Amino acid sequence: MCGIIGINSNKSVSATIINSLKKLEYRGYDSAGIATLSEGLINEVKTEGRVDKLEKNSLVQNMEGKIGIGHVRWATHGLPNSINAHPHSSQNVSVVHNGIIENSTLLKKFLVEKGHKFKSQTDTEVIVHLITEHLRTQNIVNSIKKTLKSLHGSFALGILFKDQPDLIVGARRGSPLAVGYGPNENYLGSDSYALKSMTNKITYLDDGEFCFIKKDHVEFFDEEGTKINKKVLELSSDEKKYDKGDYKHFMAKEIDDQPITLKNGIKEYLDNTNNDINIYNFPWKINDISSITLIGCGTAYHSCLMAKYWFEELTSLDVSVDIASEFRYRKNRFKKENLYVFVSQSGETADTYAALDLCKNNGMKTCSVVNVIESSIARKSEFVLPIHCGTEIGVASTKAFLGQMLILYILSLKLGLLRKDLKKEIFIQKLKDIKDLPNLVEKTLLTDNKIQTISSTFNKAKGSMFLGRGFSYPIALEGALKLKELSYIHAEGYPAGEMKHGPLALIEEGMPVVVLAPRDNYYKKTISNMQEVIARGAKVLLITNKSNDNVISENIWETVVVESTNEDLLPFLLTIPLQKLAYYSALKKGFDIDKPRNLAKSVTVE
Ligand code: M6R
Repeated sequence: MCGIIGINSNKSVSATIINSLKKLEYRGYDSAGIATLSEGLINEVKTEGRVDKLEKNSLVQNMEGKIGIGHVRWATHGLPNSINAHPHSSQNVSVVHNGIIENSTLLKKFLVEKGHKFKSQTDTEVIVHLITEHLRTQNIVNSIKKTLKSLHGSFALGILFKDQPDLIVGARRGSPLAVGYGPNENYLGSDSYALKSMTNKITYLDDGEFCFIKKDHVEFFDEEGTKINKKVLELSSDEKKYDKGDYKHFMAKEIDDQPITLKNGIKEYLDNTNNDINIYNFPWKINDISSITLIGCGTAYHSCLMAKYWFEELTSLDVSVDIASEFRYRKNRFKKENLYVFVSQSGETADTYAALDLCKNNGMKTCSVVNVIESSIARKSEFVLPIHCGTEIGVASTKAFLGQMLILYILSLKLGLLRKDLKKEIFIQKLKDIKDLPNLVEKTLLTDNKIQTISSTFNKAKGSMFLGRGFSYPIALEGALKLKELSYIHAEGYPAGEMKHGPLALIEEGMPVVVLAPRDNYYKKTISNMQEVIARGAKVLLITNKSNDNVISENIWETVVVESTNEDLLPFLLTIPLQKLAYYSALKKGFDIDKPRNLAKSVTVE
């Protein structure tokens, strides 16, 4: 997490750095800071809180300098206050850092013994002092090289030097970092998003590399300090998509945009002429794959879990699902005939990236399902399936979740067909159903008013539960995650059939419980579980789909009815009211919906 920006220009940079930091706030927003170099001095201004506060600081408004670095922080070491905010500077060097230095305690001890004085509680400050120490005896390339070699952990760095008016150093290991090229100026950014408003010409640093950003050119080095050449990529410019239009929050827009984003995904993947799915460039022989492992974090993990049900239903593949932070440290049995699928909106999640890296190093088949196609995960995977849902700004993932589910569902159908597990006529029928999905999501969005009213009850509750079986179980988990993430209300997602094995003890008079019971194979069983919680005092919000027979059950507090479609696709529709419920609960509590406390959009630390 954390966002980095650096600009080396022939005009004043502070205002542009501040604007870029605003774009980077999705990576962290507990504190922010900027440092520029002017008249041979490093000027540094930092604040706790948001970039807005930094911008209003009179020191920033009058800040001079044609070269500078900026940072938004998501705290790892030390409280989110102005002292711990980045940049961290000595008299000679100023550093912004994204990542974690795991051996900072040891390094700090060594530096303190050498007489260095520390101001903050951060791990980052050791980098400042290490470079300062090495610069006493060595040139810049060697000082950087030596410093980087002594750091354990992950980092993306931007470094400014008092005696170098035309130099920003960037360095990367484990955390993403990009260089951008402009007219008479060059940039450093923790991702291309921050740089897009200034340039569409980008180079990504790879692990172990560092670079020298001068006003008129950029030099790249490998970890031994040897100069290397790197490719310049051209990004498509899609600035307009970042606008939230008439909406109060990006999240509200992103929920309502889902019919369009699904349509985009469908357009990319459904081959109407041949009644097929447009995954013709699958790089492996179908008979070389007998099992599949789906890996992700948070909401992306939930889409993996959802996909397990589809893959098991539509193919004869063995399917396993893993949380990336667990997978990467377990003693895995790697199998050549297994396909490893990595799911990530940002494509930068540190744990998911590390899991992918592990699989690649073990020679496994790797495929990623990502939203950001220039991301580290996409670039590292052998095969990429983009979800085409456009930039997602709200920290709570919504349209990307539906996008991930769509692609995973499509992949399960395609593999089912290729493996001859699925009959062509069933396959064709399912493609037809997919085409109707955006329209059904549109109609399901009309549950909005009802959900708004219902959300008041959740706000007053100490806690809540989300229950589902089968296809609805991963959606229950996702509904609970959304509610806790946005409204800070304790929420548990559970398989409805598991309640009596412990969690039923949590149910007390008036506790709101969401029961997902679409008219699928599990319907009757879920309704029985629902009655068990009602009997213990729960206020049940039943979410089901349209059907000819009314719900035959008693004492339900509220019912929300979504559209009907084939059983496989109901999870898409059930998700909509849960996203809205979380949104309205947070709205009524007055919380910061697009930037919930303690979180960040892109989790680039483990
Ligand atoms: O970018 P990713 O999809 O890899 O992110 C994974 C999770 O951090 C993310 O889904 C997180 O759980 C969301 N904030 C949930 O809304």
